[in-house]
Amino acid sequence: MILGIGTDLANIDRIQGVLSRHGDRFRNRVFTETEQAKASRRKDEAGTYAKRWAAKEACSKALGTGLRMGIAWRDMSVSNLPSGQPVMEVTGWAKNRLDEITPDDHKAIVHVSLTDDHPWAQAYVVIEARPLA
Ligand SMILES: CC(C)(COP(=O)(O)OP(=O)(O)OC[C@H]1O[C@@H](n2cnc3c(N)ncnc32)[C@H](O)[C@@H]1OP(=O)(O)O)[C@@H](O)C(=O)NCCC(=O)NCCS
Repeated sequence: MILGIGTDLANIDRIQGVLSRHGDRFRNRVFTETEQAKASRRKDEAGTYAKRWAAKEACSKALGTGLRMGIAWRDMSVSNLPSGQPVMEVTGWAKNRLDEITPDDHKAIVHVSLTDDHPWAQAYVVIEARPLA
């Protein structure tokens, strides 16, 4: 069954502006080491961060919490399989919320899909619950 869906569009130029103004303060507050390592290897650092920003916003919508002040953005993190497919990992408050909405005897799977075409970066998140048995 589907527990939640979320989508978000992020403006790559806006993210570039925040990176230029706040640099590592922004990187460290919002993005995990895995996300920062991926972005720093890329020519399009801002586009890489914009997709991951959109993924976090989409995930918060799928979790049904939406955006809140003081949210721990690093508790929703994107990594990539060897194929390039993105995977969303949730920890802390986001994991607690996921556990809350997951019915007993089910496991939750967070699906994420990303794309970008300058100046836009887009993410979809679908949270699925699968019976354990
Ligand atoms: C997947 C693919 C269609 C992406 O298309 P694109 O036009 O380059 O880029 P888009 O902006 O639409 O999407 C990029 C996002 O797609 C996602 N993506 C990449 N590979 C993926 C895959 N195998 N499955 C699902 N999603 C994938 C990633 O999240 C990527 O963003 P990120 O690298 O910042 O995480 C394209 O890379 C492709 O056909 N790849 C073939 C497989 C391949 O070359 N693999 C190389 C590693 S073995």
